[in-house]
Amino acid sequence: METSEQLLEFESKIAEGAKIEPKDWMPDRYRSQLIRMMSQHAHSEIVGMLPEGNWITRAPNLRRKMTLLAKVQDEAGHGLYIYSATETLGIERSELIDQLLEGKAKYSSIFNYPTLSWADIGVIGWLVDGAAIVNQTMLAKASYGPYSRAMIRICKEENFHKKQGFEIVTTLAAGTPEQKAMVQDAVNRWWWPSLMMFGPHDAESTNSSELMQWGVKRKSNDSLRQHFVNITVPQARAVDLTIPDPELEYNEETGDWKFGEIDWNEFYQVIKGNGPCNRERIAARRSAHDNGAWVREAARAYADKQLTRQTTS
Ligand code: 3HC
Repeated sequence: METSEQLLEFESKIAEGAKIEPKDWMPDRYRSQLIRMMSQHAHSEIVGMLPEGNWITRAPNLRRKMTLLAKVQDEAGHGLYIYSATETLGIERSELIDQLLEGKAKYSSIFNYPTLSWADIGVIGWLVDGAAIVNQTMLAKASYGPYSRAMIRICKEENFHKKQGFEIVTTLAAGTPEQKAMVQDAVNRWWWPSLMMFGPHDAESTNSSELMQWGVKRKSNDSLRQHFVNITVPQARAVDLTIPDPELEYNEETGDWKFGEIDWNEFYQVIKGNGPCNRERIAARRSAHDNGAWVREAARAYADKQLTRQTTS
């Protein structure tokens, strides 16, 4: 049971901007919120490897192939990094994985869309990783120490992901008419799902108020989304690509790009499991998990043998 002194000390740390560390006392709700948010973030990184991995064998040249390979491997590392940070909250990674495979945990909606052309790889790096950078730069200031430190490391790699993506986009946009059409088609398909990555409007965000009260989120879903739009629209215009939103309009006073309404029905359908690729993604994760069982068993057997050797020596 929490005591008022413990709660007072916790809240004053949050107010001072100090980090909460694994061994510190924390409210159960703070712990469960972090487990929810961090594990879903880790699931997103791992599932996010699938749409891009689909194009590694079909990259147009060796340089593009090596860059995509490096990016997909980075995402695996981000997932493992954030699973490790989540485990510091006292939950086993195997339990988190089971939650994903049993459909009890979410991962980002964005990864339930198909990658239909090579241009998608560029647009994902530019828009999806670009959106992740906006979000994760904020999370690098999160009150929970292990999470914020993980974000600092991950953001450095995300910047490489965005740059390599935007280089692909720039190349195609300046290429043949067919290449230009291919990258514009990718922008048309990925723009709105990228805006959905920031979550529902603040008024519909069931978790934001607690997360902001505890300094896990420093900015709201809508403010991060607006910042992403403000930095991305000029990038699209710089390479003569059109953002698929007829309501897009620059507001001189606020400096914001006003944009149209997101299709929230699509958003909730996708997070309910009815997106274009949800079943395929979870099936791929289940198959990888089953095929990897022997690795886990061998590692466990080795660890047990080492332990026995230590305790009997
Ligand atoms: N996809 C799936 N579920 C989403 C979602 C999305 N884009 N946006 C919101 N949701 C879910 C939330 O998880 C919550 O459901 P839950 O309570 O059952 O978990 C519900 O919708 C209501 O949303 P809230 O705004 O109340 O939820 P949060 O306060 O947690 O905000 C979030 C959602 C902005 C995604 C926040 O959780 C967050 O910042 N998470 C950490 C970052 C993250 O997970 N990013 C995912 C992408 S990772 C990535 O892009 C990898 C890169 O390498 C490409």
